[in-house]
Amino acid sequence: MADYVEINVNGVRHRLDIRHKRTPLLWILRDELKLTGTKYGCGIAQCGACTVHINGLSRRSCVTEVGELTEDDKVITIEAADSTIAKAVKESWVQHQVAQCGYCQSGQIMSATALLSKNKNPTDDDIDRVMSGNLCRCGTYPLIRKAIKTAAKSLTEANNG
Ligand code: FES
Ligand code: FES
Repeated sequence: MADYVEINVNGVRHRLDIRHKRTPLLWILRDELKLTGTKYGCGIAQCGACTVHINGLSRRSCVTEVGELTEDDKVITIEAADSTIAKAVKESWVQHQVAQCGYCQSGQIMSATALLSKNKNPTDDDIDRVMSGNLCRCGTYPLIRKAIKTAAKSLTEANNG
């Protein structure tokens, strides 16, 4: 049996000591790979601050053990979220000046990007349902909703244009 685990983060393979098998991905991202855009909030999958994409889906990295991943699983963090959808979301976030303290925002952007990847024209209910797992102590929820709608509109216009 291999005495290491291999993970693929932002397109780069990393070989980790087997002792990290039970380590939450969040700690590897922040402490080992220095990808500090992904935040620690609660550690128990309740706040969404640690949201990353694994194979395009939102996952809470605080409760994802490194050993759950295979080397074929593609982890994307906020630092490398540069798909067309992610770019539209980031631009819209800036346009609406969504961030207040900013702490929750990388998780919000990752969840919003995953939402728009699946649903090109989300309703308020769709947004509230999907984003409800991402908490914001600064109460930026109304701006988040607006920004997601603006991003959806700009993506639709780009596709039709
Ligand atoms: S830190 Fe992972 S959900 Fe809160
Ligand atoms: S912007 Fe401060 S916690 Fe969300």
